[in-house]
Amino acid sequence: MDTWVYPGSFDPITNGHLDIITRASGLCSKLIVAVGNNSSKNPAFSSEERIELINEAITGMQGIEVVGFSGLLADFMKKTGAKVAIKGLRFISDFEYEFQMALLNKNLVPEVESLFMMTSANYSYLSSLAIRDIARNGGSIEGLVPECIREKVMDKLLSRSKG
Ligand code: PNS
Repeated sequence: MDTWVYPGSFDPITNGHLDIITRASGLCSKLIVAVGNNSSKNPAFSSEERIELINEAITGMQGIEVVGFSGLLADFMKKTGAKVAIKGLRFISDFEYEFQMALLNKNLVPEVESLFMMTSANYSYLSSLAIRDIARNGGSIEGLVPECIREKVMDKLLSRSKG
């Protein structure tokens, strides 16, 4: 069975992430959405909250599992036995970062391939950071995150920004 891993911080999941999940899950038997922590970012949502939001967003979709991981992605890949890590690409700046990550991971776990999927054009401008900024300042995130989680995301970020 071909299992792929889609790693990310998903802080929170955006419609761009959901687009990659939908398209990637159609290309493998099982897609593991792996929720990790980027050491250069301080997440707004806890790991449990991010997992819960993704699970809500993928309700009704088949062949997808959402799990948290800590430590190296390479070690997580070894543990799952998955041979493919898929990432979404938006801009050239994504490419530079992802290229380095892919090479580092290849060095750590040579049997794993990093594959890249271009984001759909309508989501190319989206990022979790932009969503956090808009929501914290009371702007509308309609159409930017899955509709079923919009209110939860707004509530959390607005209440945090009020201290
Ligand atoms: O959404 P992001 O910020 O692109 O997600 C990044 C994440 C969590 C996938 C990445 O930071 C990661 O793999 N972290 C685990 C530590 C690791 O393996 N780092 C890369 C090799 S040095």
